[in-house]
Amino acid sequence: MKDLNEFATLSYKGKEIQLPVITGSEGETAFDASDLRKTTGCVMLDKSLMNTAVCLSSITYVNGEKGILHYRGIPVEMLVEKCSFVEVAYLLVHGALPTKEQKSTFSHLLNVNSLMHEDMRHFFDHSPCGAHPMHILSTMINALAVFYPNVDQLSLKEDIELSTARLISVVRTMAAFAYKKSIGEPVVYPRHDLSYCANFLNMMFDSPVAPYEINDDAVRILNSLLILHADHEQNCSTTTVRTIGSAQVNLYATISAGISALSGPLHGGANQEVVAMFRHIQEIGSIEKFFNQVKDKNCATKLMGFGHRVYKTFDPRAKIIKKKCHEFLEKMNIHDPLLDIAREVEEAALKDDYFIERNLYPNVDFYSGIVYRALGIPESMFTVMFALARLPGWIAHWQEMIGSKTKIVRPRQIYVGKSLKEL
Ligand code: CMC
Repeated sequence: MKDLNEFATLSYKGKEIQLPVITGSEGETAFDASDLRKTTGCVMLDKSLMNTAVCLSSITYVNGEKGILHYRGIPVEMLVEKCSFVEVAYLLVHGALPTKEQKSTFSHLLNVNSLMHEDMRHFFDHSPCGAHPMHILSTMINALAVFYPNVDQLSLKEDIELSTARLISVVRTMAAFAYKKSIGEPVVYPRHDLSYCANFLNMMFDSPVAPYEINDDAVRILNSLLILHADHEQNCSTTTVRTIGSAQVNLYATISAGISALSGPLHGGANQEVVAMFRHIQEIGSIEKFFNQVKDKNCATKLMGFGHRVYKTFDPRAKIIKKKCHEFLEKMNIHDPLLDIAREVEEAALKDDYFIERNLYPNVDFYSGIVYRALGIPESMFTVMFALARLPGWIAHWQEMIGSKTKIVRPRQIYVGKSLKEL
């Protein structure tokens, strides 16, 4: 952060208030209003924090006007081509890509923490059939604090590293177990000889009667998807993690809250909704008819997988996923009619004034579900995939928040209820 020694002047009731101007490393400028209440007695009103930077962060840079996304200064396009998800997780959490030695230590930590406590399996056995895997996942992550209670006193560097590795590794095991439970098959345990993504696919699809053959293209595309979802600065779930973490809640409960926030259809839950929407459009047989519903102010229908609070142009993640999705389906010789619908919907929306005027473009969720389908991942697991990928980002933000000695997050409000009345 640069303090430019410049000030913006706010004039109120004949008084002039100086707000320091600060700028970030990519030139974003902010007026620092932290002392406003102290000096004027007034607060800023910014509903849904549409215009408020809540922290200084050096993890991820997003430029919504130009469609840029960097993790720790590295363009996401480069990371997708050159790195594994485990390396990117390390980058986000530790600030730099790992050396060969650091990578092997980190991979070892992931391996030795890939099993969850065996007693936790009872949670799966007693959760009702048909329970959404995102709800199971957030519950199970919260329950980790019961099985590994010393997480409350995370102070040593080694404790943080262990809990980080446990979370990143075990969430993959839990996700796969939840799926196996949902289809009534025996669970498959993680294997130390497999890479992160290959291990996940094996736990999802291996069975005692039909061994799963690991497909390198499937591993590669899963790796890319996880990298592309790994962080996205102050989105709703990350803000949840920072907010809850600021009350010094334990790391597992904090991440569990992040997972709950992610499950909403306006956030990570959109990837599941997108595929349901494609199917709906297929059923009604008309994109125009669907768009009319979307444009109708009396109707809550949205074009899911389109629009973004920050991106006012193409989401760079959507561009990469679209390309990889085409390549992967072609290579696997899969013809998914929903991909044809997705293409047609995108093309129609990009020519339609409603979407043009509002700068609505495909976001990360528009094509990801088509890839998950091609991988054989069921729709109810789509948002779980997002959570699995977002973990390193949440952990990095939690660490940054703890390290910068953030005060408890406690916004103000403007009370508009009844004034004091006598009974
Ligand atoms: N379909 C139809 N209209 C839309 C859409 C959409 N997907 N997105 C925004 N609009 C309209 C909105 O109705 C409003 O119109 P008007 O000015 O006439 O009232 C205008 O565009 C501005 O939208 P907004 O609601 O003020 O924008 P926002 O920044 O509050 O919302 C969003 C961002 C992502 C919640 C929203 O675009 C949306 O609901 N998209 C669909 C859900 C989705 O795909 N979510 C995933 C987001 S990316 C991944 C993630 O964050 O997890």
